[in-house]
Amino acid sequence: AIERTFSIIKPDAVAKNHIGAIYNRFESAGLKIVAAKMVHLTKEQAEGFYAEHSERPFFGALVSFMTSGPIMVQVLEGENAVLANREIMGATNPAQAARGTLRADYADSIDENAVHGSDALASAEREIAYFFAADELCPRTR
Ligand code: CMP
Repeated sequence: AIERTFSIIKPDAVAKNHIGAIYNRFESAGLKIVAAKMVHLTKEQAEGFYAEHSERPFFGALVSFMTSGPIMVQVLEGENAVLANREIMGATNPAQAARGTLRADYADSIDENAVHGSDALASAEREIAYFFAADELCPRTR
């Protein structure tokens, strides 16, 4: 089915000028960018977005990293988009990411791992709504 998923290009990849290369991976794989913007998260926004991780030992470092510079947030649309984007990204830990994936090519560590993508359709809906108003999304054409 055609799905929409939520994606972040994290501060490390933005700082290293990898936005275009990463967008090329999405588009080459058949995913359409149907909403996008650059934002610099406040501490409160980052804590809210990652609330499910608030008890994890890496939470403080995660919030500090995600507020360290601008990020790109986008909505990707396509066949099986949630899983397709996770395959494009590769494993959370770049040391375990398959060759040719975004994390293998652009991430330095599990903490600074270049991209985020929704892990399921329900989280995609929640994460899209966290960053985008309905009128910021392109209407569906298929
Ligand atoms: P992300 O998909 O953005 O969701 C939470 C982030 O926490 C994750 O990517 C990683 O960058 C970071 N993180 C750091 N340590 C861990 C860990 N042990 N397990 C999962 N995520 C971690």
